[in-house]
Order: sequence, then structure tokens, then C-alpha cells
Amino acid sequence: MLDKLLAALNETERAAVDEEEYNVLKAVVDELPAFPREIFQLIPILQAIQRKYGYLPRLALNMVADHVQTTIGKVYGVATFYNQFRFNPPGRNPIKVCLGTACHVKGGEILLENFERRLQIKEGETSDDREYSLERVACIGCCALAPAVVVGEKVEAYVTPSKVEGIITEIEVRKEMAEREQVKNEAANG
Ligand code: FES
Repeated sequence: MLDKLLAALNETERAAVDEEEYNVLKAVVDELPAFPREIFQLIPILQAIQRKYGYLPRLALNMVADHVQTTIGKVYGVATFYNQFRFNPPGRNPIKVCLGTACHVKGGEILLENFERRLQIKEGETSDDREYSLERVACIGCCALAPAVVVGEKVEAYVTPSKVEGIITEIEVRKEMAEREQVKNEAANG
């Protein structure tokens, strides 16, 4: 089934399916039979894929449509209706901007725009090098720290637009230090 779906893509679309995504799709093919082929399984299946792989690959939506015997339009409609689903793989540094009420009134939307400008990606997207992904989330449960942003696992409190650059710089510095450490270790191990 996967080969058939891949064959139906144009060249650019096929090239966009990298090895990692191909492996995810192969795993989804193996996992789908565990779910009853019923339309009421649509959301649980999408949730299971997203939970395990962090996103819903486009071709996975086709597979799910086939599995629960509905149209791709219906699956896509359901998946886009709920904010919890994303369609791009998460970056190594996922950035989640809280836009719950408390964060929203304290400028969360402006922070999101600042991250979009700085990272050159829109919310819901992942940078080409897979370093960053950006999304808006509902209240993360620490309204006293509003406006809050989650970077990886860490909650950044009272974020201001001028702090956005600092957050990205900190990630870049950490990455560079890790790379240098790796080079040092490789050299030490001969
Ligand atoms: S609204 Fe942002 S943490 Fe509650």
C-alpha cells in the first residue's frame, strides 16, 4: 500500500519523503491493523500516530482514510480541526508559545510573531534543518508566569519580545558547545 501511495506522488512530493518519514510510514502500515476499521476510530488512530511519532505524515493520513474506509478529505478535515495535530516533524528544539488567556493578554501573539520572524518559519512549521519547530499551545498551567513559552522541556517565564533573541542564542550556544565537546571526545578517543 505504501509503495502504491508513493507511486502516486509527483517527483517533488516523493523527494520530500525522506528516510526517516519513510520508516515512520512503514511502521504505521504495521500498526494500523491493531485498530478496528471503523470511522469512530479515526481520532484515536490519529492521536496514536501523533503520540508515537510527534506528527502526522501526509501519507499516513491517506493510510488512515483507507483503513477506516473514508475519504482523505474527511480525515484531513478532522485532523486540521483539532489544534493538537501537527503535520510536520517536530524540530530538535520545539518551541511552544502559550496563547491561553493569561499569556494572550500579556502579548503571547506578539511573541509568536517574533519567533516566526527570527526563525523564518510560521507556526506549525519546522525549519528546513529540523533544528526548530514552532507552535501555539493552549494554557500550559503556569499562568502566574505569563507570558510563557516552552522551549524543549523548559518553561521560559515572563518572556518579552527582546528575550526571544536571547532564547535562540542560548540554544545555538548550547548546540555549539555540544559539537565542540563531541569533536574533543572524538580526538581524545583517537
Ligand atoms: S495561559 Fe499561558 S500558562 Fe496559562
